[in-house]
Amino acid sequence: MNSNIKLIHTNIVYSEDRNRLAVYTDSYIVVEDGRVKGIWSELPEEYKNLPMKDYGDAVLIPAFSDLHVHAPQYLNRGLEMDLLLSDWLDKCTFPMEAKFADAEFAKLVYDAFIDDMIANGTMHACVYGTIHTEATSYLIERMNSKGIKGFVGKVNMDRNAQADLLEDTSESIRDTEAFLEKYSGNKNTKPIITPRFAPTCTREQINGLGKLGKKYGIGMQTHLVESIWEAEQARLLFPECSCDTEIYERAGLMDNGPVIGGHFIFPSEDDIRILRMYDGYAVQCPDATISVIAGIMQTGALLDRGMKIGLGSDISAGHHIGVFTQAARAVQLSKLKEFYEPEGNRKISFPEAFWMATKQSGELFGGTGSLEPGSVFDALVIDGLSDAARKLKPEQVAERFCYLGTKENIIARYMNGEELSQAL
Ligand code: GUN
Ligand code: FE
Repeated sequence: MNSNIKLIHTNIVYSEDRNRLAVYTDSYIVVEDGRVKGIWSELPEEYKNLPMKDYGDAVLIPAFSDLHVHAPQYLNRGLEMDLLLSDWLDKCTFPMEAKFADAEFAKLVYDAFIDDMIANGTMHACVYGTIHTEATSYLIERMNSKGIKGFVGKVNMDRNAQADLLEDTSESIRDTEAFLEKYSGNKNTKPIITPRFAPTCTREQINGLGKLGKKYGIGMQTHLVESIWEAEQARLLFPECSCDTEIYERAGLMDNGPVIGGHFIFPSEDDIRILRMYDGYAVQCPDATISVIAGIMQTGALLDRGMKIGLGSDISAGHHIGVFTQAARAVQLSKLKEFYEPEGNRKISFPEAFWMATKQSGELFGGTGSLEPGSVFDALVIDGLSDAARKLKPEQVAERFCYLGTKENIIARYMNGEELSQAL
């Protein structure tokens, strides 16, 4: 019998498409060489002799993708959440990021961050480091060795921040090139170009990064129209551009690989046109925008216009490392958006939110985020969410998990078809 085949019996839920969950009760899933082979309610004869892992009444779901998270802000989560963006950056975030000049400190934080992310069911992520190459190199190496599929960026910033976070522009480009060159061959976690956002980057720096993107065929992540202040700063500092997104387009940063724009709360028509043209992702970070912006993305309207949207924890503007919680929050915020601004906005459904956090985002990482045949088997087994007096259906277990689950509800984790054995 082929040792690369695994058989699991339980209930199974994943996103079939944007509006529908596929639900299999009391079923068998076969995983071959790390990918889903098929799901059956009656086990086919050929698999009957395989050893079977039986999770009984639990529910198997795809692992989650966090499309916007700042690893160096991990120690700040849940603190100073009464500040708004500009003050929060200056008083809380930048002082913390400056500490990552110390690579030994960085290792401690990054080890804890990565373990906590996996414990909370995130196996794919787009992560920001800091300007510091040594610390960010440790982050990408560690994520890569842990098997996390994703991207890590050495952050670029050369104006409008405290002195010890400002890079010399040419040095910044040189450091970034060395980082891209060293890690572009990584198997799991790859480098991505990461200009922080328009207010902290000069035109010279963004153009230099654009040349690197083209040379190495690498995409970019940044913050896009997160606040009205940011959008105004973008117009003021880059008067040649009609909108925030055009700043990066003009530098050729959107031509080379995935484009991931965090937040996208106050886009102009031009922002939307450009991001869609490059098939970029807008990332909704619900907790973050409740805390440091008080702004709500037009999620339903943007989805209806064919925009790709994923979800982000945005540690530490967001406070919870488990991006699964953001699927629930995205539903809640869409209802507030519809209530306060009914014109052109609509609430989203739970299946839509779950799809954004799994299948839609999983496409960025090479065919994961689903349990349909052919998908890479990155998956979680969740349990303990029904009441004694009310047994939930599998899709209800998935929904309740996103609202009130904790990492303790995740009783098993699989990555590339292998069960993770680490104590979490
Ligand atoms: N804009 C620029 N930097 C940041 C950051 O670290 N977090 C958030 N939420 N917004 C930003
Ligand atoms: Fe952010």
